[in-house]
Parts: sequence; C-alpha cells; structure tokens
Amino acid sequence: MMRTQVGIVGAGPAGLLLSHLLHLRGIDSVVLEARSREYVEHRIRAGVLEYVVAQLLIEAGVGGPMQADALPHEGIILRFNETDHRIDFHALTGRHVLVYSQHLLVRDLIAARLAAGGTILFESVATRLEGVEEARPRIHYTQDGEERELVCDVIAGCDGFHGICRPAIAQHLRLFERDYPFGWLGILADAPPASAELVYANHAHGFALLSMRSPMVSRLYLQCAPDEDLNAWSDDRIWAELQTRFSRVGGFALTEGRITQKGITPMRSFVSEPMQHGRLYLAGDAAHIVPPTGAKGLNLAAGDVAVLARGLDALFKRNDGSALKAYSATCLDRTWKVQRFSWWMTSMLHRFAGHSAFERQVQLAELAYVTSSKAAATSLAENYVGLPLPGGA
Ligand code: FAD
Ligand code: PHB
Repeated sequence: MMRTQVGIVGAGPAGLLLSHLLHLRGIDSVVLEARSREYVEHRIRAGVLEYVVAQLLIEAGVGGPMQADALPHEGIILRFNETDHRIDFHALTGRHVLVYSQHLLVRDLIAARLAAGGTILFESVATRLEGVEEARPRIHYTQDGEERELVCDVIAGCDGFHGICRPAIAQHLRLFERDYPFGWLGILADAPPASAELVYANHAHGFALLSMRSPMVSRLYLQCAPDEDLNAWSDDRIWAELQTRFSRVGGFALTEGRITQKGITPMRSFVSEPMQHGRLYLAGDAAHIVPPTGAKGLNLAAGDVAVLARGLDALFKRNDGSALKAYSATCLDRTWKVQRFSWWMTSMLHRFAGHSAFERQVQLAELAYVTSSKAAATSLAENYVGLPLPGGA
C-alpha cells in the first residue's frame, strides 16, 4: 500500500501538469499511468497552445524547451471559395499562439517531475476507485501483474475520455453530448509546410487543415466519414484529396513527402456536470471533449488543473475548501464558452451531408462575415488565442 496527498490517474497533459503545479506548492502526489513512458512521450496529438497556457507553463518553470522550439503564430488563414482570408491575432488581440507538439510538452513535464523526485508509475493501470465519499479514498491499480492500492486525501481523475474515474461517479453526473457525422483523417509527413500559418479550408469536398510540427514536418487533416476505413486511403489518394481541398485561385501546391503517421479521430462535443463528486475531481478529457477544430482540448485541460491546484493549495495549507467546492462551477464556465467556440468553428468549416443549398450559402456567408467584419474577426481571434484563465493569466 502506498500513501499520498493527491492520487492522480493519467499521465497526459492534465495529470502531469497538475502533479508539477502541486509540487511547486509543496503538495505530494503520485501519478498512475496505464501506458509506458515511451508510449506517452511519442503519442501524436494536439499542436496548438493558447497564449495564456504558454504563460502558465513559463511561470511554472516548465516552458524552457517550448520557448526554444515552439513556433509563434500571429494569425491563421481561412480558405473558402478557393480564396485566402487571414485572421490577424496580433493586430486584433495583441496576442499569439504557439505551435508545439503535445508529446513534447508531455516529455518536458515528465522530465521536470522526475528531476524533482516526483513519482510517476508507468504501466500501472487504475482498475477501481473506492471510498470516494470518505476521508481517505483509494485507487486500486495493477502493476507488474499485481494488485496494489494507493491511499489518498484527494483523487484527480486525469485519465482521459476512456478512463475509469468518470464512470466511477456516473450516477451523480449529467452528461451533455453531441457526435458529429464526420471524423478527421490526420497525417504527419516529412514535408516542409506549404504555408507559414495554419490553413483552415472549407471546400465542397469537405474540410481540410494544414498544420505543422516544425519547419520540416507537416501535420495535415481531412474531413472523412466517422467510420472511415484507413486502409482505403493510400498515400497517393490522401495527397490527391488534400491537394484538391487546398486548391486556391491563382494556385497552391502542398509540399508532399513521406507520410510517417496516419490516424482517424472521431469528432465529439462532450461535457460532464459537475466535474467533481466527494473527493474525486475530474480534469481534462475525463470531464469534457471538444472537436479539434478550435485547437482547444489540451488548453482546456491545462486550465482545469490550474484551478484545481489552487483549490488544493487552499485546502492543504489553510484548511479552506471553498475554492475546491467551486472547482466544477469555475471550470465549467470556461468549458462551455470553449465548447461553444469549438462547435461554432466546426459548424462553419465542415461539409454537412444534410445541408441544403440554402444552408451551404449561409455557411459561406458566415465565413465572409467573419473575415470582413473587425468585430466578428476579433471574436474569433480572442477565443483562438485563449479566453482568460479563471483567476489569472
Ligand atoms: P489524455 O492526454 O488522454 O491523458 C489521459 C492519460 O490517462 C493517458 O495517458 C492514458 O493512457 C491514461 N489512462 C487512461 N485510463 C487509465 C487508467 N485506467 N489507469 C491509468 N492511466 C490511464 N487539443 C488541443 O488543445 N489542440 C489541438 O491542436 C488538438 N489536436 C488534437 C488532435 C488529435 C488527433 C487528437 C486525438 C486530439 C487533439 N487535441 C487537441 C485534444 C488533446 O490532445 C486532448 O484534449 C488532451 O490530450 C487532453 O489531455 P488529458 O491529460 O486530459 O488526457
Ligand atoms: C494540430 O496541429 O494538430 C492541430 C492544429 C489546429 C487544430 C487542430 C489540430 O485546430
């Protein structure tokens, strides 16, 4: 049996950042992670960090590699009717975002925790929570084929959408959900990005996104069926379809290269209310999912744990549980605004099979409005660079 103040399930961005923020406040935690260190440090996921989240990482002393290697982006391109329209974040908000791979952030956070003597138990699968309403909740987990127990004061459920923490309190939760009738086929390619800025393309064939990981590596996505068969997509077919969807009046050629990774992501909006019960607090994808069109999932996770770390600090240092009591309400306020933004970007940019010709024209008019009205462009920009974190930044 092991004992800690905060038992954290999941070594994704939420669990690792929480463990680090608690360490800075002198609070002890243990992180349980089902996968290996190698696996989580190479899992390709998000790529965009909000300004406020980048500031949070810098203030927490884990922004060094990010500051050295991230690509600052001061705007994005919306491409429709085969024409480019730029949203200038810097001019509209004075802020920018950073393109930095989630797996590198995970690597940085793991390095910081281990250097500080922190405990992350890899290949340790949480199987069951016990006594969540009691003073000493327990996490049962399996490590090296053996059943073990972690006794905590508080449990943080940072185990993603498919984890075990949210189901453990399912009867106390109300779930809000929306599935989209499409997914994203994403690739990573050894090819210099054909645009210095992200391109969000609304094309009659469907949405496509040009993003990047470095000046030599492109990250590209195309809208597909939610149950699309990846085997039906040869590299040639992927490139041909991407070239079509990114076509532009006057010409545009994507740089092609070796595809090093391929995958399909379903698109979903999901919120669990509340995000806490008893001594269990949910954070990140365990509590909510956004479709990736707004580039928000990782950023929401970081916002949650910033609030949670402050609440736990007040509890452990001053025996003041008021901030923790408000944890869910505080996070949900920001979560719903981010849900709205992600849903709106998704609705504006994708091809919906059920749309009439009228609805398609309204969608194009929305894009024309957003890219011609300073008020509308500012609304997109302030959401994209990140709404203020609750209580600071
Ligand atoms: P996760 O990263 O899912 O971490 C949860 C961890 O818990 C995992 O390591 C898992 O192995 C572990 N775990 C699960 N169950 C157990 C268990 N029983 N015991 C122990 N450990 C367990 N977001 C953005 O902000 N910007 C983007 O550009 C963006 N693009 C994306 C592109 C793709 C293709 C995908 C898939 C996601 C994208 N996202 C993006 C979303 C973002 O990746 C997630 O929101 C983010 O990973 C959430 O972090 P998390 O720590 O809450 O969950
Ligand atoms: C990515 O680079 O993976 C990425 C960028 C922007 C998004 C989604 C994903 O909106």
